[in-house]
Amino acid sequence: MNGQHILILDFGGQYNQLIARRVRECNVYCEVKPYRKVTLDDIRADAPDGIIFTGGPNSVYAEGAPSVPRELFEMGIPVLGICYGSQLMAHVLGGEVSTCITSEYGKTETEYDKECPLFTSPELPKKAVSWMSHTDYISRMPEGFKKAAQTWNCPVAAMYDESRRLYAVQFHPEVNHTEQGQSMIYNFVRGVCGCSGDWTMENYAVTAIRDIREKVGSGKVLLALSGGVDSSVLAALLSKAVGRQLTCIFVDHGFMRKNEGDEVEEAFADWDINFIRVNAKEQFMSRLKGVTEPEQKRKIIGEEFIRVFEAEAKKLGRVDFFAQGTIYPDVIESGSGDAAVIKSHHNVGGLPDHVDFKEILEPLRMLFKDETRRLGTELGLSNTLVWRQPFPGPGLAVRIMGELTDEKLETLRDADKIFRDEIAAAGLDKSINQYFAVLTNNRSVGVMGDFRTYDYTLALRAVETTDFMTAEFSRIPYEVLEVCSRRIVNEVKNVNRVVYDITTKPPATIEWE
Ligand code: XMP
Repeated sequence: MNGQHILILDFGGQYNQLIARRVRECNVYCEVKPYRKVTLDDIRADAPDGIIFTGGPNSVYAEGAPSVPRELFEMGIPVLGICYGSQLMAHVLGGEVSTCITSEYGKTETEYDKECPLFTSPELPKKAVSWMSHTDYISRMPEGFKKAAQTWNCPVAAMYDESRRLYAVQFHPEVNHTEQGQSMIYNFVRGVCGCSGDWTMENYAVTAIRDIREKVGSGKVLLALSGGVDSSVLAALLSKAVGRQLTCIFVDHGFMRKNEGDEVEEAFADWDINFIRVNAKEQFMSRLKGVTEPEQKRKIIGEEFIRVFEAEAKKLGRVDFFAQGTIYPDVIESGSGDAAVIKSHHNVGGLPDHVDFKEILEPLRMLFKDETRRLGTELGLSNTLVWRQPFPGPGLAVRIMGELTDEKLETLRDADKIFRDEIAAAGLDKSINQYFAVLTNNRSVGVMGDFRTYDYTLALRAVETTDFMTAEFSRIPYEVLEVCSRRIVNEVKNVNRVVYDITTKPPATIEWE
């Protein structure tokens, strides 16, 4: 590929995405590829400025363990091996790897040789904490290597051969617990590999807009806009690239949060695109009448969404390109750059089968979420859209237990708005990754003034998570919860009790349905 970049060879490590994000944080572009799919010829053609080997679960001596040919180290390209990657480097180049008497796991005091180009940061003390997770270790270095770090249990926690620009670290510099880990990655990609740091969202926008124009020519582009971060940023990018050749269809199923449908429409009012909002609430509500089972709700909403979108898209005739907001984590998880995998996100899953189009356009395919947000800001999108928290495709429909009614929707919208406002007022909106209200189907007895009430219990849910696969409930101060509870029971109809969900995921999920 053109331009400076780092190739990350994936050996199955759990932190592969994190390494890529750290490299990008140095303003250097990188791609993660499974080691199996990359040959020496590919590397020659691709000409990366450096290669990073990830960790992995294997032992280098295991049968069929991932490996690379020795010639890879003779191509003159700098290599940084991390964990399994460091052992592999030692093994292939004639060193020795052995099994520790006790595995080393977690924060470990590490002594560094400050002469090693990876460890020159003035903020890195000679002894500092690194994050270890290994059972094997390098027991003898290959010829030409110098030791650069050690721990009580690991005699070669880092090694390097400066003349061949080969570096290996047993610990994980990409994990936050490694003190100055980011500076080590910076020193490798910006120092050893000589990358200048030209990967910025400003540059990306310019290149992406040029590429989209070239590819689309005078063709027509169709986008299903949900108002989520990815599809909103994509709409902004495509609008800058092809203007009115783009049509965005926003299907408003009526389960958005308070004022959200209007906000999405307003956000795009001044953009040079064809924006179609389909208000399909009645259609969705009538299909959901009497439905209480969560999966059935989701299925009906998914199907109805496709039906509404399809009917609208058909009015446009043949479109040339169907744009999707696929981002890099989706690509990596689906096997690193295999042929376009259509997101199984239920909102758009299956759409391309039904809509007549020539090609899929995925301009965000190589961006991480934080980069997508930065690109959005670069393109002039509002903070409300760029920092929008994740919201399930079926919206509030899966946050109302049991059958949906207009009244329940209004109750939930009002309560959710109060909760969000109070979280923002307490300055917690950036640290809590997702927070929302759920209307349970449970009613209980209460007293208001001199009257007995028999009303709904509303649950508040707030979680902290990095990947949404696991989550901790957020430790919101009682004072904030107290204000939320008081305001909700006083200001919202049909609620007389507020509870806070203190379950982690697993075993619970983040959403209630
Ligand atoms: P769970 O409830 O499975 O949710 O712990 C994990 C994350 O996914 C979001 N979510 C969805 N996102 N379409 C989406 O785009 C959906 O149907 C959907 N369902 C759940 C959820 O909000 C959380 O962030």
